[in-house]
Amino acid sequence: MVRPVEVAPPSDDKRWRIINATMRRYGYKPHALIETLHAVQEAFGFLDDASLSFVAQRLNVPMSKAYGVATFYHFFSLKPPARHNCVICLGTACYIKGSDQMLKSLGEAYGIEEGEITPDSEFALLSARCVGGCGQAPVAVVDGEVVSGLTPDNVVAMVREKINHAS
Ligand code: FES
Repeated sequence: MVRPVEVAPPSDDKRWRIINATMRRYGYKPHALIETLHAVQEAFGFLDDASLSFVAQRLNVPMSKAYGVATFYHFFSLKPPARHNCVICLGTACYIKGSDQMLKSLGEAYGIEEGEITPDSEFALLSARCVGGCGQAPVAVVDGEVVSGLTPDNVVAMVREKINHAS
């Protein structure tokens, strides 16, 4: 077994015990990198500088490699997730009913582009190709729930109402 590099976790958050357990299971070997980053992502929702640095040191891999892996795979996120998100469907059935205009209205209201998160991490605006609700097109998925009856004019109010209701 490789002798682990002694380095303190970024905080005394108990979730670091889970991360440590993952690395221990792999004998703190460098090949545990992806599995460990998965554990961090699952526990914290994203990978930040401190967590990447901790994992890299503990597994004795260069920081550049940890960054390389974290940025290569799309399932890793380097940013904290937004508190709320809205996925506008741009599939054919929704698109022909103006969903691209809905995306534009929301982008203007929140001051972000598709794929971005507001600076306060409150709201993420995303798009998808058919979310399986073509019969109710145009639709959006707000915080995991399908919302129909949308138009470019009412979409901002409808999404805000849904979000406020969930808060
Ligand atoms: S195209 Fe939008 S739900 Fe199918």
